[in-house]
Amino acid sequence: MPSCLLFFSIFLLLFPFSTQLQSSQAWSLLRIQRLLNYPPFLSNWNNYTDICYAEPNPYVTVVCYEESITQLQITGNGTSPPLPRNFSINSFFTTLTRLPNLKVLSLTSLGLWGSMPTKISRLSSLEILNMSSNFLYGIIPPEISDLKSLQTLILDHNMFTGSFPEWVSSLSLLAVVSLKNNTLDGPLPDSVKSLDSLRVLDLSLNSLSGPLPDLKGLTNLQVLNLEGNYFGPDFPSLGKKVVTLILRKNRFTGGLPSDLTSYYMLERLDISYNRFVGPFMPSLLSLPSMRYLDIAGNRLTGMLFQNMSCNYGLAYVDLSSNLLTGSLPACLTSNLKNRVVLYSANCLALRDKSQHPNSFCLNQAFAVGILPHKQKKESVHKTTVAISVVAAVAGAILLVGLLMVFFLRRANTRKAMKRPPRRLIVHASNGYPSKLLADARYISQTMKLGALGVPSYRSFSLEELEAATNNFESSSYMGEGLHGQMYRGRLNDGSLVAIRCLKLKRSHSSQNFNRHIELISKLRYRHLVSALGHCFEYYLDDSTVSRLFLVFEYVSNGTLRSNISGGGQKLTWTQRISAAIGVARGIQFLHAGIIPGLFSNDIKATNILLDQNLVAKISSYNLPVLTENMKSEVVGGISSNGSKEHIGRAIGGDKVDIYDFGVVLLEIITGRPITLHIDVEAMKDQLQASMTADGAARKMNMVDSLVYKGCCKESLQTVIEVCSRCLSKEPTDRPSVEDVLWNLQFAAQVQDAWRGDSHSSEGSPIIL
Ligand SMILES: *[C@@H]1O[C@H](CO)[C@@H](O)[C@H](O)[C@H]1NC(C)=O
Ligand SMILES: *[C@@H]1O[C@H](CO)[C@@H](O)[C@H](O)[C@H]1NC(C)=O
Ligand SMILES: *[C@@H]1O[C@H](CO)[C@@H](O)[C@H](O)[C@H]1NC(C)=O
Ligand SMILES: *[C@@H]1O[C@H](CO)[C@@H](O)[C@H](O)[C@H]1NC(C)=O
Ligand SMILES: *[C@@H]1O[C@H](CO)[C@@H](O)[C@H](O)[C@H]1NC(C)=O
Ligand SMILES: *[C@@H]1O[C@H](CO)[C@@H](O)[C@H](O)[C@H]1NC(C)=O
Repeated sequence: MPSCLLFFSIFLLLFPFSTQLQSSQAWSLLRIQRLLNYPPFLSNWNNYTDICYAEPNPYVTVVCYEESITQLQITGNGTSPPLPRNFSINSFFTTLTRLPNLKVLSLTSLGLWGSMPTKISRLSSLEILNMSSNFLYGIIPPEISDLKSLQTLILDHNMFTGSFPEWVSSLSLLAVVSLKNNTLDGPLPDSVKSLDSLRVLDLSLNSLSGPLPDLKGLTNLQVLNLEGNYFGPDFPSLGKKVVTLILRKNRFTGGLPSDLTSYYMLERLDISYNRFVGPFMPSLLSLPSMRYLDIAGNRLTGMLFQNMSCNYGLAYVDLSSNLLTGSLPACLTSNLKNRVVLYSANCLALRDKSQHPNSFCLNQAFAVGILPHKQKKESVHKTTVAISVVAAVAGAILLVGLLMVFFLRRANTRKAMKRPPRRLIVHASNGYPSKLLADARYISQTMKLGALGVPSYRSFSLEELEAATNNFESSSYMGEGLHGQMYRGRLNDGSLVAIRCLKLKRSHSSQNFNRHIELISKLRYRHLVSALGHCFEYYLDDSTVSRLFLVFEYVSNGTLRSNISGGGQKLTWTQRISAAIGVARGIQFLHAGIIPGLFSNDIKATNILLDQNLVAKISSYNLPVLTENMKSEVVGGISSNGSKEHIGRAIGGDKVDIYDFGVVLLEIITGRPITLHIDVEAMKDQLQASMTADGAARKMNMVDSLVYKGCCKESLQTVIEVCSRCLSKEPTDRPSVEDVLWNLQFAAQVQDAWRGDSHSSEGSPIIL
C-alpha cells in the first residue's frame, strides 16, 4: 500500500508537471511566432494545435520527446529581409531558453538580426546549431563553448566579425564547423589542431589570413574549404583522408607538395587563383577518386603528353591560365558526356587562339623563378608608405598648379589645332592641292607656319628618290608591311627619310589622288612620323599612276616596344609616361587636328617609333589611300584592323584607338610585349585586382620591376587606372583622349615631383 501511494503521489506530481511543461513550451513557440512577426509559414500554429504532432511543413519541423521539444527547425523563405526594428534578439533567445531540451536548433533565413546573446549557453543539450542566412553580427559568443554536446556549428551567411573562435578546442565533439561568408579576420588559431572529431571545416569567404597551423593531426578531416580568404603562403599540411580541398582565391605561393598525389580519397581539389608555381603533377588527373580538379590562374609549369591517363569519373577539369606546355592528354578530350575540360591561356600545342606561344610560358616561368623575396617586399612597402606621404603633400600642391597650367595649355592647343585645318580646307575648295604643293613659293610660306623641325611637305621626283635609295637597292630595303615596301633613303641634303612604295592595282590618273595627297600633306605633327612628300610614277603608255611613293621622316631610335622590352637600355618610368603622352597627343591630332579625322590607326607598341630625343611618334595612321588600295586586292575589303570594330567616328571609331592605346599603356606598365588579345584580358583583370587595397603584392608582380623600383606609386596608380579604363569592353566606357591626356600629365607631374630634388638627369623632359 505505501508503495502504491508513493507511486500515485509521484504520478500526481509528475503528470500535472509534465502537461504544464508541454503547454509552457507551446506557449514559447507561439511567442516565437509573434517575435518573428507572424510569418506565413507558421500560420497553422495557434492555441489549439498540438505542436508536437502538427502537420508536416517544408518550412517547419518540431520534434518532441517525452513531452518536451528536442528539435526546432524553422526555415524562412529564401532571402528574407531583416525583421522590423522592434525585433529583439534578446527576447527571442530568452524565449528559446524556455526549450531547454533542444538538441537541434535550426533557424535559417528568418531575418534575425542583432548580436547573438550569451544566454545561448543555457541550451546545454544542443548538438546541432544552424543559424545560417540571418543578419547576426558582432563576435561569435564564447559562451557557445559551454555547449559541451555541440557537434555541428553552422553560422554561414551572417555578418559575424572578429577572429576565428579560439575556444572551439573545448568542444571536443565538434565535427562540423561552417562559418562561410562572414567577415572574420585574423589567423586560424593553433587550437583547431585539437579538434579530433572535426570532419568539415568551411571558412570560405571571410578575411582570414596568415599561415595555417599543421592540420595533419586532424585525421578525420574530410572537407576543408578556405576559398576567398588571405591564407598562405604555404600549402596546408593535411591528413591523407581529405576528400574535398578548396584553396581557391587565397594567397598561397610556392610549389604543390609532392605527396598530394597520394591523397587517394581526394575527390575535389580546387587550388585556382592563387600564386602557385612549379610543376603541376599530371598524376592528379588519375587519382582514383578525383572528380573535380581546378588549378586555373596559377603559374604551374610542366609538359603534358597525349598518352597521359585520367580517372574515368573526372567530371570537371580546369587547367586554364597556367604555364603548361606540350599537348592536351587525349583522355581529357575523349568525348565523355558532361565532362567539362578548360585549358585556355596555357602554351599547349593546339591549333586555336586560346594558347600563348611557348616562349611566353618559358619567359613567365623564368620570371617566376626570380621573383623578389619577402624581405624585399617589406622594405618596398615601408618606402612606399614614406613616399605616399610625401607624394600626397606634393601632389596636392602640384595639382593646383597643374590644373592651371593644363587648362591654359589646353586652351592654347585648342587654338593651335583649330587653325591648320581651316587653312587646309581652303586647299580643298580650290581643288588642285598637288599643283599648289608643287609650288615652291607656297611651300616656303607653309614652312614658316608649321614650326615642326621637319622640312615642309613637297612633291619629290622619282630621280630624287632613286638617288636617295641607290635605285631602291636591297641594302636600303627596310621591310614590307600590309601597305607596300619600305625603303630607307638619304636625300641630297643629307637627311634620312623612310619611303613607302605603294604599287597600285588599278590605273588612276594623278588627279584621282588629289584628295589623298591633301590629307597626307596634313600629317605633320610632333607626335606623328610626319609626311614629307610624295612622288608618282607613271605608266609610259597612258600616263596613269603605276606607283605612289610616300616620303616620311626617318625616326631612328627604334620602336616603343624595343625600348621597353627589347635587349638594350630600357625606358625609365618618367620616359615611359612622356612617350605615352606623346602617343595620346598623336591620337588627339589624328582624330581632331585634321579634317577629316583618321580613326582606327592600329596603335600598338611596334607602330610607335622614338626619335633620338625619345619623342614618341605614331607611324601607322589609317590612310584611306592605303586601305583603298588594299580593297582592290582583297575580296570583301578587309581593313588593316581585321576583326576589330568598324572604322568611323560615328560607331565609336575614336574609341578603337583608345582601346589600342590602353594596350600600349599595359605594355608600358608591365614591360612585357603583348601580342594576343587573350593576354590583354587576363592582364587587365590582374591589373584591376591590383588596384584594390590588398592588391599591392599583385601590383608588384605585374608591374615591370624596373618601373616599380623607380616610380612614385601615385603616378603608377594613375596610369594603371587610366589604362584599365581605356580597356573597357564598352567603347562608351572608355575615356576621351583629353581625359587620358589629363591623367597622364598628372602622373608625369607627380612622378617629377617625386624625383624632385635628386636632380637626376634621367630621361627627356616632360613636354606639357
Ligand atoms: C515564399 O515566397 C514566395 C515569393 O517570394 C511566395 O510566393 C510564397 O508564398 C512564400 N512562401 C511562404 C511559405 O512564405
Ligand atoms: C491564445 O491564448 C492567449 C492567452 O492564453 C489569448 O490571449 C489569445 O487570444 C488566444 N488566441 C486564440 C486565437 O485563441
Ligand atoms: C513590430 O512592428 C510591426 C509593425 O512594423 C508590428 O506589426 C508588430 O506587431 C510589432 N511587433 C512587436 C513584437 O512589437
Ligand atoms: C543549415 O541550414 C541551411 C539553410 O536552411 C541548410 O541549407 C543547411 O543544409 C543546414 N546545414 C545543416 C548541416 O543542416
Ligand atoms: C553572403 O551573404 C550575404 C548575406 O549576408 C548574401 O547576400 C550573399 O549572397 C552571400 N554570398 C555568397 C557567395 O553566398
Ligand atoms: C608518353 O609519351 C612520351 C613521349 O610522347 C614518352 O616519352 C612516354 O614514355 C610515354 N609514356 C607512356 C606511359 O607511354
